[in-house]
Parts: sequence; C-alpha cells; structure tokens
Amino acid sequence: MDRRKFTRLCSSLVAGASALSLGLPQRKASANLSSSGDYPICALHDSDGKPLTVGSLAEGTSSIFSYPYKTTPCFLLRLSPGNVNRQLLDDTQSGSGQDRKVMLADSKGHAYEWRGGIGPDASIVAFSAICTHKMSHPAKPVSHLNFRPEEKVFRDRSGNTNKASELIYCCSEHSVYDPAEGARVLSGPATQPLAAIELAVNSNDEIQVVGTYGSNMFELFLEKFGFRQAIEQGIVDPYELVGESARISDAQDYSKLRILC
Ligand code: FES
Repeated sequence: MDRRKFTRLCSSLVAGASALSLGLPQRKASANLSSSGDYPICALHDSDGKPLTVGSLAEGTSSIFSYPYKTTPCFLLRLSPGNVNRQLLDDTQSGSGQDRKVMLADSKGHAYEWRGGIGPDASIVAFSAICTHKMSHPAKPVSHLNFRPEEKVFRDRSGNTNKASELIYCCSEHSVYDPAEGARVLSGPATQPLAAIELAVNSNDEIQVVGTYGSNMFELFLEKFGFRQAIEQGIVDPYELVGESARISDAQDYSKLRILC
C-alpha cells in the first residue's frame, strides 16, 4: 500500500473510531434542519463572538467560516454594488436587476438557478471555498484559493482577455470563479461552480446560513483532507458539524500564506 493510501486509511479509521466512541454526529443532523440543505440553521458571529449583522460587512471584503462541517471552509463576501448584477461572459443570465436569473450547471449537466445574495443590493454572498477542480482550499498554513477585490486581467476559456474586480482565483491550476454569478467558472480547469451557500437575514439584521445547493465536494473533501483539517482546527472528528453557530475570520488573516496569481 502506498503512503497516500495508508494515510487515507488511517484518517478514516481514526475519524470513524472517534465518532463512534464520542457519539459525535457523522453526516447529518436530524433537528432544526435548514430549508434547502440537511444541516442545522447556523448563525454567523464575528471574530468577537457577536452576531454578525449585514451592516457590519464592508464592501469588497472576504471572510472565511466553516460550514456545514467544521473542516469545510466557505467564503462570505460582500460585493460592491456595481458588481452585483454584472455579467462578464455569454449567456448565464436572463432579465436584469432584481429580475435577473442566473442559470448554472454542475459537471454532470444538472441545471440550477443561483438564488443570489442578501442585504443591500443582494451584495452579500457565500460559497463553499473548495475549488471544484482538485479541491484546493484555504487552510491555516496556506491558501491557493482567494477572493481578489482589486481589478485584474484574466483569460477566459476562449482565450480572450478580460478585466474584472472581485473574482475568486485558484492559483493551483488557474481556475477563476465569479461570485456575482453564483461562482460560475470563468476560466481554468474547474468543471462546475463552487457550491452555493444560502444565507438569510433575521429580524435583527443578523446573518444566518440556511443551507447549501449546487453540487458540493464535501464527501470527497472530507475523505482527502478531513483529518488534516481536523488537526488544524483542533478537533477530533473530521465529520463534526458546525451546528447552530459559526464564527467568521478575515480571509486576509485566515491563512499564514496566501498564494496570489
Ligand atoms: S485545484 Fe483549483 S484549479 Fe486546480
């Protein structure tokens, strides 16, 4: 057995044994489930532990939080109003403004409609921060997958040069995603959008995570990176769910090293 297979086997054995011995939830919770996913509705909190409000997020900023597992990272972004309704390439949208529809498809061709963001101008959006190519992600030591607020030039899949701000770049093999259009793939080898994380706002202006849709990579990711992520997060079970509360971190500070391309 090669070293990678051996490490994977050990990871799953440890995770399974830990979950059994500690009685931890393995995959899905059974109560207070979200409307669009199989996980508990989760209230976001800032780095001081206070409930995260719509008004506290500045334009062009990015944060990382864990959802639905403590080991699966997500982006929380507040886009600039001028970027919210943009369409960089061809025909994923119909309608305009509040009436626009963003149609996406996963790698198997299953179509879905992106439900958009929340807050003023629907500018607050969230996505699983796991690249759909080979699952590059923000980890504590290093991140190749980063939100870039500044204007940058990229080449789309047809080889045309484009310029845009507030895109997500994966510097592992140069995939580019547009968070203003449901994290659709603009460039690179990724074959489907980042999984969408659905947000809601309660009557106190506080942000909640209510589910996930689109095709996600959670199972594959946990199998491959769960054990390492658990060690970095200081938890035992890679499959431990976030539950009803998660804290955000500034994406600039989350990883020791951010690889920018
Ligand atoms: S892992 Fe992101 S482009 Fe390959």
